[in-house]
Amino acid sequence: MCLFLLQGPIQKSTVRSAVTSPLAPLGCDSFSDVPVVVTVIAWRSVVCWLAPEQTAGKRKPFVYTQGQAVLNRSFFPCFDTPAVKCTYSALIEVPDGFTAVMSANTWEKRGPNKFFFRMCQPIPSYLIALAIGDLVSAEVGPRSWVWAEPCLIAAAKEEYDGVIEEFLATGEKLFGPYVWGRYDVLFMPPSFPFGGMENPCLTFVTPCLLAGDRSLADVIIHEIAHSWFGNLVTNANWGEFWLNEGFTMYAQRRISTVLFGPAYTCLEAATGRALLRQHMDVTGEEHPLNKLRVKIEPGVDPDDTYNETPYEKGFCFVSYLAHLVGDQEQFDDFLKAYVHEFKFQSVLADDFLEFFLDYFPELKRKRVDSIPGFEFDRWLNTPGWPPYLPDLSPGDSLMRPAEELAQLWAAEELDVRAIEAVSTSAWKTYQLVYFLDKILQKSPLPPGNVKKLGETYPKISNAQNAELRLRWGQIVLKNDHQEDFWKVRDFLHSQGKQKYTLPLYHAMMGGSEAAQTLAKETFAATASHLHSNVVHYVQQIVAPLGS
Ligand code: BES
Ligand code: ZN
Repeated sequence: MCLFLLQGPIQKSTVRSAVTSPLAPLGCDSFSDVPVVVTVIAWRSVVCWLAPEQTAGKRKPFVYTQGQAVLNRSFFPCFDTPAVKCTYSALIEVPDGFTAVMSANTWEKRGPNKFFFRMCQPIPSYLIALAIGDLVSAEVGPRSWVWAEPCLIAAAKEEYDGVIEEFLATGEKLFGPYVWGRYDVLFMPPSFPFGGMENPCLTFVTPCLLAGDRSLADVIIHEIAHSWFGNLVTNANWGEFWLNEGFTMYAQRRISTVLFGPAYTCLEAATGRALLRQHMDVTGEEHPLNKLRVKIEPGVDPDDTYNETPYEKGFCFVSYLAHLVGDQEQFDDFLKAYVHEFKFQSVLADDFLEFFLDYFPELKRKRVDSIPGFEFDRWLNTPGWPPYLPDLSPGDSLMRPAEELAQLWAAEELDVRAIEAVSTSAWKTYQLVYFLDKILQKSPLPPGNVKKLGETYPKISNAQNAELRLRWGQIVLKNDHQEDFWKVRDFLHSQGKQKYTLPLYHAMMGGSEAAQTLAKETFAATASHLHSNVVHYVQQIVAPLGS
């Protein structure tokens, strides 16, 4: 496959403070802020070449790029820092029978095998993305298509027909116009390492989202929310990643609250909080990466700092600011004004906080930035559990039954009548996820209980939904329920999302000898199919250097 990339004009540096030129290092000088191609670490590659067996259809090869955080510097010459934005155009030539797609506003065919793309709005380099494969599309809304291999396209259309427009329209109501023109979704091959990647105009997603019941739409809402937070207003360096992800979590949950109500949204947020708890338990609260503003040392790849803190602690900080304002509508208006003020620019937390205090002069006068225990400086620069947690009690009606049921399953002597009295048939996927997280926290359960649990709820133990398969796998491993080890193996063979893969390898390596053998065998069999980053991280778990 042959490709030509033409770099568009580089815009003047758009960072509001601390930096005047893209060549000047940012305050937080790091690998990510080195402007041109400097270091290409052998095992990481931006272009992922997949053989036919690695695709859903298994008929034709597939190639895609994943630039975030700092890999696009090895794809084309660029100022590979989120502080700099530029437009681009690209002419891509493909062999017969292949289609190219990119994160661009427009595309046209130039001859039978050439595709010309143009992105006319300035974006940071990490958002330039390309995929080529046996791809077809189907319309799912007035400005949206889904793209997928032919064998997945019907399922993709079924899953998202009509709903994407609702997500976009709600986002527009809350945060201002959607400026990117189209919003399409590309279903990637199973080894795609993320749930979703917010490439402008064309979100890339894992095919795991094809759950058949729209239950995993929160990922699409999340990537849509990046259209305002991340893609339009961008963190100026990767040490302030929470400005992308924390705001996006907040925006995602605002859209979800409007569309699905506070109970469901609080339940989903509670599963996010549980992930933050797990992460801090594993790393220790005081770990320097458990700050919102992290120092990425020179030579460190920002991908290696990726964790739950920017997402969920970031969400808590934005929620805290909303709590200070005290009125949801006013806070929504403020977010709209923030996007308007900084659109197509890159910002630091200081830019945002200064704007916040200027927007709410009464709060500024009250010095809310220095309330003891909740100082803005503490939020940004102190590791640990968030000083403020938003109230998730509107989700109690969904969470409490799940908690109570988990409690019953943790008993030495199972109270079968009480268990049977709880009907889970109407429970939504996230309610089951919440229930399973509680079971996992209480694991290992008394002997025999997990076997009985699996038999009682085949819709959990035989689930096809990836969020349920992950949790069931974690429970199986924590309880050393060897009868179901094959389900862990099958799940890891079926997809390669990082957030599913790493926790399962951690659990296997922390488990029995049989679990460790399962880890080694599964890794040996799947490594050639996984994304290179994921291979690297699994290697560190299964065979750490020096072991
Ligand atoms: N931009 C991220 C994915 C990413 C992060 C790629 C860091 C490379 C480096 C994307 O928006 C994201 O956060 N995806 C989440 C979605 C979830 C929070 C709903 C994912 O993949 O799990
Ligand atoms: Zn995100």
